[in-house]
Amino acid sequence: MHIPVLLVESTEFLLGNGGRLYVDCTLGLGGHTKRILEKNSRAYVIGIDRDESAIELAKENLKEFEGRFSIYKANFKDLDIVLREEGVEKVDGFLFDLGVSMYQLKSERGFSFQIDAPLDMRMDREQKLTAYKVVNEYPERELARILWEYGEEKLSRKIARAIVQRRKEKPIETTKELAQLVASVFPPRLRHGRIHPATRTFQAIRIEVNKELENLESALEKTVKHLNPKGRLVVISFHSLEDRIVKNFFRRHAEKFLLLTKKPVTPSEEEIRMNPAARSAKLRAGERR
Ligand SMILES: C[S@@+](CC[C@H](N)C(=O)[O-])C[C@H]1O[C@@H](n2cnc3c(N)ncnc32)[C@H](O)[C@@H]1O
Repeated sequence: MHIPVLLVESTEFLLGNGGRLYVDCTLGLGGHTKRILEKNSRAYVIGIDRDESAIELAKENLKEFEGRFSIYKANFKDLDIVLREEGVEKVDGFLFDLGVSMYQLKSERGFSFQIDAPLDMRMDREQKLTAYKVVNEYPERELARILWEYGEEKLSRKIARAIVQRRKEKPIETTKELAQLVASVFPPRLRHGRIHPATRTFQAIRIEVNKELENLESALEKTVKHLNPKGRLVVISFHSLEDRIVKNFFRRHAEKFLLLTKKPVTPSEEEIRMNPAARSAKLRAGERR
């Protein structure tokens, strides 16, 4: 349901300091956590995810390691609160494997235009803001800004205008409706390329709904205080905006982190062939001084 990305590389960076206590900030289905527990028989993992149903699957996948992990349904931006609840001040490593899992993309929760579903896109289904609200209630200028910034969408204004025009007639309810509307804004020659014209719009709305960039910024800042000396911070990102945040974070904290990746580590051709979803992954890692 989800093939863990850069699994070997990320866990090598994380475990390279011979520590014991690690936090998997994006537990998902538990793929990375499983490898941490397999590779280091003394390791204990605190797993965090904001998606209740992913957590249920992770528990199932990690059954054999019962007693060596705890799981929290939380936003990783609250990792300090999770650590306090766990009674822990410092850990030996944090792992972030950002974005959505294949399990979420394939669900009927509106993450993908390939599956017709209500516009939702919430990782945490207790949250109030949904894709439906963004699409049907945000002012045109705000929509355009989101598409431009988070989707790097050149036709942001035109798409925002088309959305606002359409919703005056009736609300835009489903992924299919939105994808078709976005596609109709593109000139016919660009409608049938390798990448669907709605890809960037969907990415942008998902980032907005889940406040992905803000959460990443504040979570990274919080790791500084909670890492033991030689503690590792490993981040796998999937688009340029996330990667920029990670790169700038390490730059800003150069006195506190030794950079272990001068250039980001990317998946091998072999991995991309086996798992095309890995193709845009970039891994950066640092060690707390
Ligand atoms: C790419 S998946 C992780 C997959 C996991 N490494 C595995 O191998 O199974 C990303 C996960 O991070 C979760 N996530 C994303 N942003 C989050 C946040 N701010 N707080 C907590 N979990 C988050 C998503 O719900 C998703 O399950």
